[in-house]
Amino acid sequence: MHTTNVLPHCTYRDGSLHIDEVGAEDLAERFGTPLYVYSATGIRANFTRLAGAFMALKPTLCYALKACGNVSVCRTLAGLGAGMDVVSGGELERAWLSGVDMSKVVFAGVGKTREEIAAALSGAHSPLKGIVKDGSGRGPEGRGAVGMFNIESEGELRRIARIAEDLKVEARACIRVNPDVDAHTHKYTTTGKSENKFGIAIARAKEVIEAARAHAYLKVRGVHVHLGSPIATPKPYMEAIAVVLAMMDELNAKGAELDTLNIGGGYGIDYGLSTPATPEEFAAGIVPLLAGRVAYGLRVFMEPGRCIVGNTGVLLTRVQYVKIGDKKRFVVCDAGMHTLIRPALYQAHHFVWPARTQSPPTRLAPPENAAGLVGTDVVGPLCESSDFLCQDRPLPVVEEGAVLAVFCAGAYGMSMASTYNDHPKPAEVLVDGTQVTLIRPRQELHELVASELAAVGVA
Ligand code: LLP
Repeated sequence: MHTTNVLPHCTYRDGSLHIDEVGAEDLAERFGTPLYVYSATGIRANFTRLAGAFMALKPTLCYALKACGNVSVCRTLAGLGAGMDVVSGGELERAWLSGVDMSKVVFAGVGKTREEIAAALSGAHSPLKGIVKDGSGRGPEGRGAVGMFNIESEGELRRIARIAEDLKVEARACIRVNPDVDAHTHKYTTTGKSENKFGIAIARAKEVIEAARAHAYLKVRGVHVHLGSPIATPKPYMEAIAVVLAMMDELNAKGAELDTLNIGGGYGIDYGLSTPATPEEFAAGIVPLLAGRVAYGLRVFMEPGRCIVGNTGVLLTRVQYVKIGDKKRFVVCDAGMHTLIRPALYQAHHFVWPARTQSPPTRLAPPENAAGLVGTDVVGPLCESSDFLCQDRPLPVVEEGAVLAVFCAGAYGMSMASTYNDHPKPAEVLVDGTQVTLIRPRQELHELVASELAAVGVA
């Protein structure tokens, strides 16, 4: 058998793509397309590698489930001891349903509502109470408060303090600071510059932390910083950490007792165009700045999302038509910007290749000796010219019915999918070696309209 590896868990065997041990075309046939497929071995390997690289800091690794929030994916990570980073009441409930210890949950996000804060402090306020139970048959009531709020503004701090006092529950928090450090990411995913809506500027944050000492039920334990995503080198982290440590030292000298630093997420991955730092290279820059302090009691949190799931997900889509335009060759597929919005929104690059091919790639790029490639736009069915998965890409000639694989679609793929133009959301499958589990069925068309009909008494 002739075998080439695109990624450790994505292999072409005699020209046919396999995710772990399972054929991609078989999955497309069995579950239909578009289809998100995740490799459990890939998820575990990525998590274990990151944990190993940063071991010296003994960090609490809070998986940013916004990257891919499927409960089964989260359970895989919770089973490895991951905490979770959540940014809404909905994500909070997913974290609980994944079986994670709530004390390892950090709650970020700029717009936390009163209801979301109450549910994060006490499961008695969960909107799922009386409706849903977790894997052990328990409701949310007794689940306890989240380990940490990441507070984004003074208004939010006051709100959390008040609700914690009303509920008589201690709220632990980090203040998210905006260090005005450029992470050199797409402008839509840069968060640590002073023109961004995130965090509190350093000078003001110092005053806020000092003033917060008066609150009875809100305990400010440290500082949170997240610069953007995806970040290619450790440099921006190192810059921001230096700024933030100086601030913590200054406040601690005045008796603040800050013992927690959350350095956020954003660790870049290889999509095939450039090679960002590896987990070990990120760690080589970051660990030396913090290891000594960890020995003296500093607690470190990290919030990785993309680098845990990004390269483990493959989006499978079936070619509907091949259309030769005056200027371009279009391959029209059943996936588009409603399935994977990253190319349209951020001009993001995803490697696309047929699931069956005579030119199997050996990395996330066309093989150098591939013959007969033609410039192609892979587009979706939507009525928008931004509806593409890639443009002007050298691709083998494919025919109607062929299955294409869109690689590295595990992060911010399904979690950003929509039903625009009334396309039901795709199914999701988790592959683990030879084992295949449907972890979310394809949305049915009737689900799209049922609540609207019910609202006016038609259904
Ligand atoms: N922590 C905070 C506070 C965040 O805002 C984010 C991502 C993360 C952690 C996780 O970042 P990661 O490790 O996954 O890079 N939709 C965009 C990415 C948006 C990221 C939003 N925040 C994309 O598809 O590239």
